[in-house]
Amino acid sequence: MTHYPKSEAILSKNSRFIPGGVVSTNRAVDPPIVFHKAEGAWMWDVDGNQYLDYHAAFGPYVLGHSDAYVNDAVRRVLDEGRSLFGSGTTELEGNLAELICDSVPFIDSIQVLNTGSEATYQALRLARAATGRSHIIKPQGGYHGWHNDVACNLMSPLAAMGPRRVADEYPYLPISAGIPSEHSELVHSINFNDLDSVEAMCRKYPIAALITEPILQNIGVVHPLPGYLEGLRELADKYGFVLIFDEVKTGFRHALGGYAALSGVNPDLVVYGKAIANGYPLAVVGGKKELMDLFVAPDPEKRVLLAGTYNAHQVPTAAAIATIERLASNSGAIYRKLEALGQRMQSGLEKIFTKTNATAVVARQGSAFCVYFMDHLPVDWHDVIEHNDVELDGQLRKKLLDSGVYFFQLPMKQCSLSAAHTEADVDATLRAVESSLASILCVQPTVR
Ligand SMILES: Cc1ncc(COP(=O)(O)O)c(C=O)c1O
Repeated sequence: MTHYPKSEAILSKNSRFIPGGVVSTNRAVDPPIVFHKAEGAWMWDVDGNQYLDYHAAFGPYVLGHSDAYVNDAVRRVLDEGRSLFGSGTTELEGNLAELICDSVPFIDSIQVLNTGSEATYQALRLARAATGRSHIIKPQGGYHGWHNDVACNLMSPLAAMGPRRVADEYPYLPISAGIPSEHSELVHSINFNDLDSVEAMCRKYPIAALITEPILQNIGVVHPLPGYLEGLRELADKYGFVLIFDEVKTGFRHALGGYAALSGVNPDLVVYGKAIANGYPLAVVGGKKELMDLFVAPDPEKRVLLAGTYNAHQVPTAAAIATIERLASNSGAIYRKLEALGQRMQSGLEKIFTKTNATAVVARQGSAFCVYFMDHLPVDWHDVIEHNDVELDGQLRKKLLDSGVYFFQLPMKQCSLSAAHTEADVDATLRAVESSLASILCVQPTVR
């Protein structure tokens, strides 16, 4: 059993000055490990324990921690005295915008923000300004940030959702206090992979936008069924709502053009964050010219406010450019490596489940994977919460910590490989999963 005396002492001290001792709710984990260093695929805590990291700080580290190429670009910004300035434009932000527009054919222009939440907020504002409508649709189980429009219906308890809704919406289930009740009337949460419910909402309400992760990656890895994203595109065109792909997690992690490029479905607006800057704080909203130009509409009544002291700060901007350069280098060799590692992990896990007689499936997109302890790949959150063995899911994650493997400590959360992981890391992880699962299920592990 690993012990964390120094971590516990730091958390206890921090809790005197920071409510709960953490600065983002989901960082409150059990056990409360305080990390002090990370490099490549590895993290070290203050008690001297070492971990293979699959949490990846909620997803940004597609290249691994402390990537030398990215850090060199950041160092140059500091050494060359490139301040934030905060007055006028910089060459660097133009370079980033050009790089992104060149990488993603359906994007005419972008704006640069600091966090995914800011970017989804701006995307929804653009949609409302463009359509003159207020209602939005989001999937049950999708996460799009902490603001009033979207802080609802994430990992909702089955009892609160009630039975599966067909061509209907779930009750509004906020994940924060302090949201004005008016918002519950404007936000409609429906099942992912359910076009009938989208159409029902469009018939009932004036819908400005549908915002969705193209793969739900805040409840593991829930793929769109064949035809679903295409169906959303058709319904957006039919009913005149703005289709927003929230690619904060899927974006540059799965391909330069995000999952939109892989699926061939173009949204009207797209949002990137996380992996776009390999751990530095930067997010982007981009899309069609007629929507993006609302930020500079000549008529002040139509203009969407764009403001932000730190937008396109040169440190994260340089990091984003360097990250994209690395991802694009050698004709996307990193994506091929991530796919190969992901495939090795998936087939290894599947063999373990057969050997240990565990009812489990592996959902995976490239470097992102999630094990569900159920007999089929889920299609939406209702399916996950109805069928996944949450207890076993949580037990395995906890047990893996003692073997130095750090999976996100919340059940049903995805794991992320990085380009810094090796085949040997994957194999070590698989050995740890096998012995952990065997001991939980009380079966004999295979000796290798
Ligand atoms: C899909 C998605 N959208 C938006 C956000 C919000 O991004 P941020 O935490 O940078 O505000 C997240 C964060 O996890 C996310 O996963």
